Order: sequence, then structure tokens, then C-alpha cells
Amino acid sequence: MQLGVLGSGSGSNLQAILDAIDAGTLDARVVLVLSDHPEAYILERAAKRGIATGVIDCRGFRSKFPEEAQRETADRLKAAGVDVVCLAGFMRLVKEPMLEAFPGRILNIHPSLLPAFPGLEAWKQALEAGASEAGCTVHLVDGGMDTGPVILQEAVPVLAGDTAATLHARIQAVEHRLYPAAIAKVAKSL
Ligand code: GRF
Repeated sequence: MQLGVLGSGSGSNLQAILDAIDAGTLDARVVLVLSDHPEAYILERAAKRGIATGVIDCRGFRSKFPEEAQRETADRLKAAGVDVVCLAGFMRLVKEPMLEAFPGRILNIHPSLLPAFPGLEAWKQALEAGASEAGCTVHLVDGGMDTGPVILQEAVPVLAGDTAATLHARIQAVEHRLYPAAIAKVAKSL
């Protein structure tokens, strides 16, 4: 299974996917990593591994993923032979024509127990709401904001004295195990 990964930030989830592949727990290959931020560390991580990288031109929009850019992205992923697309900290809403190009084959990881706390900084939302439990979810992308069928999810406790940073770190540790496991689950169903 050939993976394409889209991310806007540090790419620790990309790293976890690569580590799982190296460890033999995920039978896949990452063939292309794209980012909407030319300076994002995710691109550097990929380049260090000899993985092809590219920048998505979002035409100056700060948070929108314009249709033209989605079409170009789908074309590049297809040309690279990508079977499944993994959003790993990609901060734009993926819709048509990406969904049409990869039906049921775009995954996202979100740092909450969806459907609770969709949107930005979900761990902060959980803290502010006084939730006793946070978590993370890998789901299929359906064009909504952190919606779509859940593939795997796992709860993470909120501890007394947690700050946004400590809670986020605890959630991320689980993300790094959950995302490769969810990809492996999807691979079995293809
Ligand atoms: C993760 O917390 C993920 O849940 C969210 O964005 C963050 C990405 O982190 N969607 P990284 O770039 O993989 O380190």
C-alpha cells in the first residue's frame, strides 16, 4: 500500500508512521509528503528519508484549501501512485475534488474523542470544558470538520494539574501508536 501524507506542521505523526513501517508493524510505503507550508518540519523529516516532497500552493488563502489546489494535490498524489492519503496535522478542510479522487481512502487524525471537540486545539477545548477524559481519533474524511466514520479511537485521561501542553503531549503519545494501527486496519479492508 502506497501512502501520501499531507501535513502543515512538525510531522511527528508522519514519523510514527515511518517508524511503524521500519518496525514491520505496518506494511506500507510513504511515497509523497505534501505541505501547505514550505517551511514545515514535516517536509524536512520526509526529505531526510529520501521521500519525495512538495508544497501545495493555496493561492494566498490563509485557511481555505481552494478547489484548484485540491485538484492539483489529487493529481500529484495519483501520479505518485498513492493508494491512501493520510492527513497528519493538515490544517485545511479537504473536500471535492480530493474526496472524489480517493473515495473512502482519506484518513485524518484528530486529538479528541470525536464527535466531542472538533476543530482547533481540541485538547484545550477538553480542558476548558472540564472533561475528565480526552483522547484521539482516526477517521475517514467526509468533507466535514473532523467528521466521518471512526476507524480507531482511544481515550486519554485528563489528570489534575494538567496544562494544555501536558495534556497534548499525553494525547500525542497515543496518536503515534493509533495512527499506524488505523492505517494497518484500513489496509486489510482494501
Ligand atoms: C496532532 O495533534 C493531530 O491530532 C492534529 O495535529 C497534530 C499534528 O501533529 N490534527 P504532528 O504534525 O503530526 O506532530
